Amino acid sequence: MKHQTEARGKFASKAGVVLATAGSAVGLGNIWRFPYETGMNGGAAFILIYLLCLIALGLPAMLCEFVVGRRAQRNATRAYGGWPWKLTGCLGVLTGFLIMGFYSVVAGWTLQYIFASVAGQLHGDVDYIRQYFNDFVANPWKSVFWTVFFILLTHVIITRGVQRGIERASKVMMPLLFLLLLLLVVCALLLPGSSEGVKFLLRPDFSKVSADTVFDALGQTFFSLSTGMACLVTYASYFDRDVHLVRSGVQIAVIDTMVAVLAGLIIFPAAFAVGVQPDAGPSLIFITLPNVFGQAFAAVPVVGWLMSIIFYILLMLAALTSIISMHETPTAFVAEEFHLSRRIAALLVTLPAMVVGVLSSLSLGSVPSLRLFGMTLFDSLDYITANVLLTLGGLLTLLYVGWVMPRGDVHEQISNGGRLRARYFPVFMFLVRYISPICMALIFLHQLGAF
Ligand code: TRP
Repeated sequence: MKHQTEARGKFASKAGVVLATAGSAVGLGNIWRFPYETGMNGGAAFILIYLLCLIALGLPAMLCEFVVGRRAQRNATRAYGGWPWKLTGCLGVLTGFLIMGFYSVVAGWTLQYIFASVAGQLHGDVDYIRQYFNDFVANPWKSVFWTVFFILLTHVIITRGVQRGIERASKVMMPLLFLLLLLLVVCALLLPGSSEGVKFLLRPDFSKVSADTVFDALGQTFFSLSTGMACLVTYASYFDRDVHLVRSGVQIAVIDTMVAVLAGLIIFPAAFAVGVQPDAGPSLIFITLPNVFGQAFAAVPVVGWLMSIIFYILLMLAALTSIISMHETPTAFVAEEFHLSRRIAALLVTLPAMVVGVLSSLSLGSVPSLRLFGMTLFDSLDYITANVLLTLGGLLTLLYVGWVMPRGDVHEQISNGGRLRARYFPVFMFLVRYISPICMALIFLHQLGAF
């Protein structure tokens, strides 16, 4: 029992806190999901709604997880006291597993696409690339191999611990990610005809906005900030007492949004430059984009080739720092609750995660009978987590901090024990008690098909 507290990791620096947590937030959600949601929902109109959701719901929810985690200094299942709130942490650990089950598959695709780009296999028209993608996904070996490989990569970083594994990896990967991102933005903006893409991103088209757009934006805010599965509770349990929660939260939200918008500034200018419609949906990045890079830089093929490699490396880095955070939540739980070493605990998470990942990968092609609720296993994991479990987890966390946790305890965390002025505290509490849970409950009912 004694070694339990000794063994608890801690982020060593404030920069580490922001980079690791931003690493969790910045992921496929920013570079894959955000652009296609924006593309389908009226460009800047969607971004505006997204920003409103971020302020009303995303940021408060993120801060609530920070409050719960840092106060507890324990794994997610111990961070919420009393019934039924304890379930929130347990639900989070389970959700982490399930998200990893489909996230690792898409993450694995990025590795395949890095190699395919290097080997120059992504040349051809859209039909050729669609065929390439479909063949790859249906191939039982390749896609499974990359899924397993990606989980193992995560495993290696996790076993090194909070400071030497997660923090150090984030401190290397996040700056690299920004650098690559900026490089690609510059390249994309230099393309002739790219201004159409920029206009699309900056000029709101409210005719495409419907009630669904608002729900999509709310769901996207939540997924993008990594809220709803106690992942940030776990990370915050490694924060030092003097970490300014609100400031860090705002910084992370700004980084997360910037990366998403910059990803849009790569994808839309490139797509418009070659006359591809930006509303292709989820396949935008793996089917439309390779072709876009090739065509856009037909004059200087080397640039197109390099851009495509850099883009998939960027996507891989983003996915890796996010999967690490999903893995850490169950790992911290297993290690602390069963008094196991980090190495063994990580293994006990990695092995079942691989099983789920492999099954969901297979469900897309070679074993189509792997279905759940009338969808492929892959789609149902995505659907259940993003639409049901994250919303439920987020709602429970908001209610817990707003109504169950003593107000003084919340204030203590937000103000670092009274050392910060925290003048916005009443506004924060108002959002957490009323506005955010009402939005959350509405999304939840919407996801369940109530209206
Ligand atoms: N936020 C990440 C993204 O945008 C994904 C992610 C990491 C996540 N950890 C999470 C989503 C926890 C929900 C909950 O891709």
